[in-house]
Amino acid sequence: MLLKVSKSSDVKESQVTDESLYRDRRRFLQASASLTAMSLAPSLSMWPAIGSASIDFNKIGKSDFSIDEETTPYDAVTSYNNFYELGLDKGDPKRNAQHLKVKPWSVKVEGECEKPGEYNLEDFISPGKVEERIYRLRCVEAWSMVIPWVGVELGPILKRFQPTSKAKFVQFKTILDPDNLPGQKRPVLEWPYREGLRIDEAMHPLALLAVGLYGKEMPNQNGAPLRLVMPWKYGFKSIKSIVSIEFTEEQPATSWNITGPREYGFYSNVNPEVDHPRWSQKRERRIGEFLKRETLPFNGYADEVASMYAGMDLKKNF
Ligand code: MTE
Repeated sequence: MLLKVSKSSDVKESQVTDESLYRDRRRFLQASASLTAMSLAPSLSMWPAIGSASIDFNKIGKSDFSIDEETTPYDAVTSYNNFYELGLDKGDPKRNAQHLKVKPWSVKVEGECEKPGEYNLEDFISPGKVEERIYRLRCVEAWSMVIPWVGVELGPILKRFQPTSKAKFVQFKTILDPDNLPGQKRPVLEWPYREGLRIDEAMHPLALLAVGLYGKEMPNQNGAPLRLVMPWKYGFKSIKSIVSIEFTEEQPATSWNITGPREYGFYSNVNPEVDHPRWSQKRERRIGEFLKRETLPFNGYADEVASMYAGMDLKKNF
């Protein structure tokens, strides 16, 4: 990122497993759901009581959206992190994880929707739809991982708040708690961390709200209790520890774009053809592998998502 460019040498030996090359044998279902086809949701009060604590992690369904690639070891996924609220170095988020207070947790929903309010985690995610999705995560720093997330599809959750016809974008914000979060004592980014999506991106079936990984509750350093996972975008779009969701008419400001507008665009789709001004995005280092691999357009999810950007100049809308 702008503040700290990781080098492959940052990765500890213990995080490196045997070099292996794996065939990409994706077996996606066609991303067929459309906004209009989505069924109207029952009212929130009809949802069973839930929350990451009440999710039965032994009964999580598998998803057809999962890729069939070797997953990055749990230790690497949970000890090599970007979470600037908990520090700038890759090891800081795990070291400082206890500073993030996740209980109780609520999410404020506001803006262009019929059902704004302050929702408990328990109100937020339907346990019946919690599933495991194995996704690639490609960081803008040119490393990547494959992570078995546990979560729910974002679109149907957003639908339950009944966005109005003016809702063209969604903004997400991370918890603001400078008394406890060591990183927020320094003005390295615009706090609270904020991210945004166009509404069709947010409603895309691949967009995930994650509450765990590797069949367990989300570790704090990975964004407990609730984070976004946008597999076709650079990792910084996958905002952690969400406390606010706002439906907006205008494109919302995002922390990285405010900090480095030439380097971090609003869309941030993984694109090997558009270099970061200070380094190439053509290749990436999969954590745990020795050789670099080619970076794929939209991080390998082009068949599913490219049509959302048809006609757009992706060099301008980076
Ligand atoms: N969310 C918040 N709130 N703060 C952050 O610093 N870093 C982003 C993203 N979400 C970040 C964040 C970046 S740059 C990446 S690559 C991913 O989280 C990393 O997720 P991981 O640590 O779970 O691999």
